[in-house]
Amino acid sequence: MSRRGFLGTLAGAGLAAAGCGAFPESAGRLLTSRLPLPAPFTVPLPIPPLARPVAPGRYEVTQRTAKVEIIPGTTTEIWGYDATFPGPTFELRRGDPTTIRVRNELPEPTSTHLHGGVNPPGSDGYPTDLVVPRGHSAHPHGGHPSHPGMRLNPVAKDYHYPLDQRAATLWYHDHRMDFTAPQVWRGLAGLALVRDEEEDALPLPRGERELPLLICDRAFEEDGSFRYPRAHDPHYMAGVEGDVILVNGAPWPVAEVSATRHRLRLLNASNARRYRLRLAPGGRFTQIGSDAGLLAAPVAHEVIPISPGERYDVVVDFSAYPVGSAVTLTDELAGDVMRFVVTRRAADDSAVPAVLSRPPERTRAVAMRAFDFRRTGDAGNAAWTINGRPYRPGAPLARPRLGTAEMWRLTSDFHHPVHLHLAHFQVLARGGRPPSATDAGWKDTVDVRPYEVVDVLARFDGHRGRYMIHCHNLEHEDMAMMADFDVV
Ligand code: C2O
Ligand code: CU
Repeated sequence: MSRRGFLGTLAGAGLAAAGCGAFPESAGRLLTSRLPLPAPFTVPLPIPPLARPVAPGRYEVTQRTAKVEIIPGTTTEIWGYDATFPGPTFELRRGDPTTIRVRNELPEPTSTHLHGGVNPPGSDGYPTDLVVPRGHSAHPHGGHPSHPGMRLNPVAKDYHYPLDQRAATLWYHDHRMDFTAPQVWRGLAGLALVRDEEEDALPLPRGERELPLLICDRAFEEDGSFRYPRAHDPHYMAGVEGDVILVNGAPWPVAEVSATRHRLRLLNASNARRYRLRLAPGGRFTQIGSDAGLLAAPVAHEVIPISPGERYDVVVDFSAYPVGSAVTLTDELAGDVMRFVVTRRAADDSAVPAVLSRPPERTRAVAMRAFDFRRTGDAGNAAWTINGRPYRPGAPLARPRLGTAEMWRLTSDFHHPVHLHLAHFQVLARGGRPPSATDAGWKDTVDVRPYEVVDVLARFDGHRGRYMIHCHNLEHEDMAMMADFDVV
């Protein structure tokens, strides 16, 4: 890499200009679109279709390319589950084991991870457990595996989800070794909602007053196609950010709502972009759930910081605004996200009870381990690493025992949203101090900021086998910031 390239990377990462303690909140390098963009709040908010089972407990979804209208007046080729972006929303129930057959009709191999799922290892979307399309050179009848432990499933694979887990907002996305970032950018992501009786019994807003909001950023070429750098471009080592914010696949959309409580399931599905969400002209989010399920009790926030992979389940009471007003979901860091227009009064029998759930208790940690997320190597040969190691499949960094809890200390040199597969965790401390109010509940992804130390208590329940810990900035992930751990 040239010196200019290296400096460019630093500038993109915000590392060059910032002094000590003055790190910017952004975590990527901006790609700008090359076509005229629509005015914000002109495109209606789409709601992704619900996936329909082909038999009780069985779904089939096909990954295909499609041309869709994202920027009005142009078409964009997407890679989509069932040719949609976001993919269909799966409504799943605790205690109803489900099998999803994923067929790959795309030009490249894929691996599908149900993020937040307590999945058996063979169905967890391991990065080298690939579904290979017909005719691809990596096809089992035509090519040779290039990674140890690589599995090539021709054309389709059945993913089995026991769903022995609490109601939560999960999501699914591509997880292919080295190519997760470009493949998710093309559209391979969607939501999966787990419901259970504990949640059913609550008087929370439901039906059309429950809105899943998958938030991500993209950039577009002149012809409407997605703009993305070539894979592993060192200029974009900090991560790729786009200049268009999409909610459920629509640019800065608008939704009409009645003056009642609404439940918003917020997901940051961006590759690298972090948000600090707020309501304008003011207002509060009542958080009811975190990544891995309902909180014990609601928590009110004016600002929700949300890093890639995280979910916040919140209730907003639109009766606090006069009919006719516009309530904008904004990002303190970059501006508009979407708008709600309060169009009418309506009866509202929903409520946010003071007690929401009985989440599992914390247990004592039987071990403490440290994971350092850092850029290593020099300019020409840099990688994002964990404990100094770039990802090597099949070389686990930890072997926690099934049924135990461990304290994992996460440290970093930059913004690294750290995600654990299988294990849900609670944030114990941030920078040696108690966690932030927005760290509440059981989580699977935590925002670790530059030079921060975050301690989490993780429970290893459900399955033995090979899982992973990685940075959910997808460019960092593809540039090796991943490690295996084995539950033994
Ligand atoms: Cu959402 Cu291993 O990722
Ligand atoms: Cu990272």
